[in-house]
Amino acid sequence: MKIGILGAGSMGSGIAQVASQAGHEVILVDASLTQLDSAKGNLERTLGKLVEKQKLTAEDSRAILDRIYCSTSTQDFSDCGLVIEAIVENIDIKKKVFADLDKICGKHCILATNTSSLSVASIAAACENSGRVIGIHFFNPAPVMPLVEIIPAVQTRGDIVTKSKALIDSWKKLTVLAKDTPGFIVNRVARPFYGEALRIYEEGVADFATIDWAMTEIGGFKMGPFTLMDYIGNDVNYAVTESVFTAFYFDPRYKPSLTQKRHSEAGWFGRKSGRGYYDYSTDQMPEPKRDKVLGEKIFSRILAMLINEAVDAAFLNVATPKDIDLSMTKGVNYPKGLLQWGNEFGLKWVLQQLDELKAEYGEDRYRASALLRRMARDGKQFDLN
Ligand code: NAI
Repeated sequence: MKIGILGAGSMGSGIAQVASQAGHEVILVDASLTQLDSAKGNLERTLGKLVEKQKLTAEDSRAILDRIYCSTSTQDFSDCGLVIEAIVENIDIKKKVFADLDKICGKHCILATNTSSLSVASIAAACENSGRVIGIHFFNPAPVMPLVEIIPAVQTRGDIVTKSKALIDSWKKLTVLAKDTPGFIVNRVARPFYGEALRIYEEGVADFATIDWAMTEIGGFKMGPFTLMDYIGNDVNYAVTESVFTAFYFDPRYKPSLTQKRHSEAGWFGRKSGRGYYDYSTDQMPEPKRDKVLGEKIFSRILAMLINEAVDAAFLNVATPKDIDLSMTKGVNYPKGLLQWGNEFGLKWVLQQLDELKAEYGEDRYRASALLRRMARDGKQFDLN
């Protein structure tokens, strides 16, 4: 089956590599020729490195590149079995593009969007044949991260869900099924990792380095929240938070942080701009305060907020408990699934953390999920098999 990819940016070119490595002929389309050239150059370099590391033969690398055909015309998608859109995150542009794809592609072609934050239903609505539209959300970098969220819109036909899932599974990816709700699984459940860390900083409980230290040394996370936000880019991370907050009708649980907004406004995006929460022009990073008691307090607060978010996603059937845990370990490298963590620490303990925060601050931000309260009361655990 021929696979079409629209958009040759970081996501589109990564997805093109994955599809070609799985043996498909790929048509990679971008409006900009320069972007296509640079995508091809990047792909050559990436595959060259895999050959150097002996993970791929030179022959295979050549074949993978040869299977990717670059073009500036979406007309070349006419005989594709699946087209994945990975262009700019703008609903009006995506709708227009899908209306065109609906006309260009054959009637059996699946039309997928890689959107991180837009409603799949609204994109599907731009097509006459809206039943063939689905969300297929890869993580960055697509060839490395195993997770793919499959997001049927309310309009998506059952056979399109089954076919999409089977195809992406055959690309050796780990697929999870997510409801078409803001942030899907990962970008919803992960919000407190950033938001609560920023709030703790704003209250003056600890500085960036100490909060990062608490989460890595005590919590076992690969990266602390501030180091991670500097990697993602404060502009990008802030935009996702703001979009999730707006899409949830301003639920205070997802409220963005003014600290992050100011960093973004100052152009302190993180690594890409040389400065974010940390200054990357020097090798000297600030030392954390290695206070175990303080570190444990910070870790417990952020972890309890994360577990509550995961429980609420399970409560609202965004995904199955098993898929919620897989999403966080395979999509963002968490050391453990959050519901598994909740089982181990005890859901009663999690509820107690949230109730204490709620009593102290009186803010709805700290409200416990109804499911957490119910399960803690009944002494239940999540079944993650
Ligand atoms: P990017 O900005 O690197 O690439 C977008 C590409 O689309 C550019 O090459 C641009 O020339 C092209 N383009 C824009 N409008 C076009 C049009 N109408 N027709 C043809 N080509 C067009 O963006 P990136 O980061 O690759 O993101 C693409 C999509 O994937 C977005 O929807 C984003 O939300 C989503 N996504 C991004 C992730 C990330 O970490 N960057 C992770 C997962 C999803």
